[in-house]
Amino acid sequence: MQQKISPASCVEGPVRLPGDKSISHRYAMLAAIAEGDSKIQNYSTGADCHSTLGCLRALGVAMEEEGTTVTLRGRGLEGLQAPAAPLDAGNSGSTIRMLSGILAAQSFTSEIFGDESLSRRPMDRIMKPLAEMGARIEARDGRYPPIRIAGGPLRPIEYHLPVPSAQVKTCVLFGGLCAHGQTVVHEPVRSRDHSEIALREFGAEITMERQRIVLEGRPRLTGRELVVPSDLSSAAFFLVAALLVPGSHVTIHNVGLNPTRSALLDFLMGAGASIRVTRIEQVNGELIGDLLVTHAPIRGGTIEGAVTAALIDEIPVLAVLGAASEQGLTVRDAGELRIKETDRIATVAENLRRMGVTVEERPDGMTIPGRQQFRAAHLDSFGDHRIAMAFSVAALRADGDCVIANADAASVSFPEFYPTLEEITRR
Ligand code: S3P
Repeated sequence: MQQKISPASCVEGPVRLPGDKSISHRYAMLAAIAEGDSKIQNYSTGADCHSTLGCLRALGVAMEEEGTTVTLRGRGLEGLQAPAAPLDAGNSGSTIRMLSGILAAQSFTSEIFGDESLSRRPMDRIMKPLAEMGARIEARDGRYPPIRIAGGPLRPIEYHLPVPSAQVKTCVLFGGLCAHGQTVVHEPVRSRDHSEIALREFGAEITMERQRIVLEGRPRLTGRELVVPSDLSSAAFFLVAALLVPGSHVTIHNVGLNPTRSALLDFLMGAGASIRVTRIEQVNGELIGDLLVTHAPIRGGTIEGAVTAALIDEIPVLAVLGAASEQGLTVRDAGELRIKETDRIATVAENLRRMGVTVEERPDGMTIPGRQQFRAAHLDSFGDHRIAMAFSVAALRADGDCVIANADAASVSFPEFYPTLEEITRR
């Protein structure tokens, strides 16, 4: 699908966002291995989180979906059923990497595959710790999907993550659920802690001290009623839209404000953005609140080190903002961006160049000078949801209509993205 986006005179109004993708995956997986029913409200409408539900269904988990509420009947820690066919993770790295931790402990062999993009993403990062725990796991060329997991009893490990990855951390913790004893994970920098919070909600004993996480094996997980906050990474597109187009103001309700995700807000506010948190509360251990963002000139800046890891998913849209900022944007320590749904350094740079924007690309980052104009252009998501949405936002500031090829990629995390953007755009 191609999507035309015309320039905006401003964006204004409240924005409705899907439920948080990261949290939806975790709640569904833990509900599947808990005892009893769990009711998850505001479950993400994105295709990725439905890939997780599809895999769980194929593993024998009974569920009902009514709008964005999903009720799942838990089967207990090792109660999943052998799937009749290979499991399809679609485009979802979270599904394949996190679910593998659970599958490694089941008493059957399973195979998981994904689409073309997922088939190019490295799985050795989860294979290594799972093998240390005793799982037998094979992959194409030793590291790419499809992966084949011969499940069985696991032993607990103490694991130092070589890369900052919440997916890998989660995979190890989920495997550790079925092991007798303590599983310990050390992180090089603190990554999103939704798994730790959700595990505690479901009844696990887990402690987090700085970058060291300790999980007691074989907890009794019990079904819960849960509400998923709106997705801050989806909110990022609208925050940036309001900061890009003069005269804009946007409100976002019930958005997740977990401190391990909100580096985005700190960065934007540090660069001069006017963002007010107008309400905040705790739901299921997660912070949720309302945001009001008003257009203001943005200075730009540098994203590096632990901050890069903390806002890795937001870098494509921040790169767009950087080009319009006063001083531009430099991104460092972002080698991980090259192994996301696309090589996001390359796909961001390619689309910026198509819009006439100068960008210097490096192996682990990029520099985008500020005060640049966006030209109308033919853009391409290259099949990556965050690239589709980031460049839809850039198109609001272009000097004419833009067309985005493969725009339907947005549905991986935000199927309602284009109507939502249209609803708040004034021309
Ligand atoms: C995610 C972790 C991040 C992020 C992805 C979601 C998660 O990936 O990019 O969109 O839900 O844990 P990595 O774990 O590979 O950094």
